[in-house]
Amino acid sequence: MKVMIIGSGGREHAIATSVSKSKKVDKIYCAPGNAGIAKIAECVDIPVMEFDKQVAFAKENAIDFVIVGPDDPLVAGCVDAFEEAGIKVFGPRSNAAIIEGSKAFSKDLMKKYDIPTAAYENFDNAEDALAYLENASFPIVLKADGLALGKGVLICKNLEEAKAGVKEIMLDKHFGSAGNRMVIEEFMTGREVSVLAFCDGTTIKTMTSAQDHKRAKDGDQGLNTGGMGTFSPSPFYTEEIAAFCQKEIYDKTMAAMKAEGRDFVGVLFTGLMLTDKGPKVLEYNARFGDPEAQVVLPRMKNDIIDVMEACVEGRLDQIDLQFEDNAAVCVVLASDGYPVSYEKGFPISGLDKFEDKDGYYVFHAGTKFAGEGADKKIVTNGGRVLGVTAKGSDLKEARANAYEATKLIEFDNKYMRNDIGKAIDEA
Ligand code: AMP
Ligand code: GLY
Repeated sequence: MKVMIIGSGGREHAIATSVSKSKKVDKIYCAPGNAGIAKIAECVDIPVMEFDKQVAFAKENAIDFVIVGPDDPLVAGCVDAFEEAGIKVFGPRSNAAIIEGSKAFSKDLMKKYDIPTAAYENFDNAEDALAYLENASFPIVLKADGLALGKGVLICKNLEEAKAGVKEIMLDKHFGSAGNRMVIEEFMTGREVSVLAFCDGTTIKTMTSAQDHKRAKDGDQGLNTGGMGTFSPSPFYTEEIAAFCQKEIYDKTMAAMKAEGRDFVGVLFTGLMLTDKGPKVLEYNARFGDPEAQVVLPRMKNDIIDVMEACVEGRLDQIDLQFEDNAAVCVVLASDGYPVSYEKGFPISGLDKFEDKDGYYVFHAGTKFAGEGADKKIVTNGGRVLGVTAKGSDLKEARANAYEATKLIEFDNKYMRNDIGKAIDEA
């Protein structure tokens, strides 16, 4: 069959890599893709938000199955567009992707269906939010309602910072229309875990757990980023915690979405905080995490297309989802200065050293081709450039392997965190 993937990041490269291993797949297209994805798929120059063009291309090329990677198109109705055209597509419809698209929606859903999460209030104007803060306890968390590249969350230590935060989100519209509404919620402490799960609208089956590192600098300092590295599994996500979450969080979320007439089909990403009062939901995403996908998918034993088709056809209960009994670590190689300002266009060397290196992957996030003919080369084209993933028999071995492998790649202004997976030592 012919598969088309929508997206252009490390997550989509990880998805494409799994799809390329499927026995069912003859040909992969990716819109728009990147220089790494181009090795295994035909990249088509159609932006992720141009659904009409994507659908037209899929029709012209007799695409059998579409996978939508990123949040923006999912929330805006990319899946709906393919469904209307009668093309099989993996991902939630817009009315279900709202679980990521509106934090106010997801908080209200959790409250209504008694799913554990931080206490909160929603606000649609700055005046009410400011008045509420006068009697709040600190630290406190402010969240822009809509999509903000994972950056619309402010943790405020005191009233002054919180007032400035409300101004930033609701008045200065730092995150654009994402800040038309906002959530103010209780600050929680504990370890964070990311759990991705396949969903068919009724059944939800979790994948192996992972942990992201969102801050730019070592020791969780610096600004929030899209993610600087991941490890999988999380040693803190025990079987006991997993059993609690399945019952109190995942199954309830699936049932809640169904009861609301918003059947969730696709990948549900639950960001959890393991607090001393038990696991609580930090956020939901309506897609694979990035860079969580880069450590979770390489460990999956199933044919990804089998699983995704089962989701779309409502028979996920028949799938035995299996993961390798090992570990993986992904270290993101970024451009120095990310997430604020950075240069692009530097040639990347060493990529070929990963070819046929079993248990090692280099997932492209921000890369592109430059030059023509013999001069054609791959250059940096984003803040997060590559994700270097390695497996190991356990987390420590995977981490050592991943850091060793980062040495194979060179480009000007290469930057990475040196403490991805440090938490493993505390397990
Ligand atoms: P989110 O996009 O909602 O996952 O938030 C981004 C990051 O902000 C999370 O990964 C947490 O590190 C932090 N965060 C979000 N909500 C809270 C909260 N209620 N308490 C403490 N930290 C939070
Ligand atoms: N790694 C967090 C996310 O994908 O949103």
